[in-house]
Amino acid sequence: MKATVLAHPNIALVKYWGKRDDALILPHQSSLSLTLSPLSVTTTVEFGVPTDAVELNGHVAKGSERERVLRLLESVRAQAGDKSLGPAKVVSRGDFPMAAGLASSAAGFAALAVAGRAAAGLPRDTKAESILARLGSGSACRSVQGGFCEWQRGERPDGDDSFAVQRFDAAHWPELRMVVAILDRGEKDVKSRDGMKQAVETSPYYAAWVKDAEAEVPRAREYIARRDLQALGEMCERNAWRMHSTSLAADPPLCYLNAATVGLIHHLREHRKKGVPVWFTLDAGPNPVLLTDAANEVAAEALARACGALDVIRCVPGGDATLKSEHLF
Ligand code: DP6
Repeated sequence: MKATVLAHPNIALVKYWGKRDDALILPHQSSLSLTLSPLSVTTTVEFGVPTDAVELNGHVAKGSERERVLRLLESVRAQAGDKSLGPAKVVSRGDFPMAAGLASSAAGFAALAVAGRAAAGLPRDTKAESILARLGSGSACRSVQGGFCEWQRGERPDGDDSFAVQRFDAAHWPELRMVVAILDRGEKDVKSRDGMKQAVETSPYYAAWVKDAEAEVPRAREYIARRDLQALGEMCERNAWRMHSTSLAADPPLCYLNAATVGLIHHLREHRKKGVPVWFTLDAGPNPVLLTDAANEVAAEALARACGALDVIRCVPGGDATLKSEHLF
């Protein structure tokens, strides 16, 4: 009745930006990401306790945060076909700063989905786990497995064909590096969930975004297959720019970049001309994640620091969400 799982966050190389179904979290387009090590979130779930209790990073979860966790566990009960599982206690802890802008919710909901099913006595099943994780947060469906995972948008209204599959494991490209440049530690003004909704509803470029992102996924797969850093780096930048352009064109406009973000982007461009292979991607916040290889990660960190990075986190391709024998309570 109790299980603990460790999962890693992921960074999208082709972004998910916009839902066709808000309740089931079904995306308009497919996306593709890399799971990041050593960052992780560990979550313990126990069923059969006296009352539901949710603790995230040392505080008692309230409101929508708590609702999202309990809703996911409700789906676990339905999958187990066992209403007698009873109330659940959840404790979750991440080892990286929220300010990194890497959705800790992705790793958190992936860990919760895998731990929830295990605690209910269900066998490991990456498809079922990915669908469950998706109900917590869309990007979480890509953190159930390691390496490069593709979230296939699916067609069905019930979301049963909308889950992530692993295309390449972490060992496929061990020299690949992602360097998180923390330029701003502040909370973002508009959360991803609200920002993408605003883009879907008001951006005149939204349909073009969907068509383009969907077409980038098989290209990204091809570049990863042949470990082509330049082609992947150029595609990452292109896709990030297009997500942000769609959002800039929303009404009211959404601008996630700040002056330091733009400064670093120009700095990277100058250094690429001098032969330093470093590209960026950018989620819904001001902190770029730099894409490079092991031979250039020190140079990438230096470029970020020269542009005012307050902190830098160097990441390598990470592995699957895994069950742990030590529990958090
Ligand atoms: C820009 O997965 O956090 O990071 O599904 O509403 O919980 P919800 O949103 P979330 O959005 C992630 C958006 C992104 C791009 C990506 O990770 O693909």
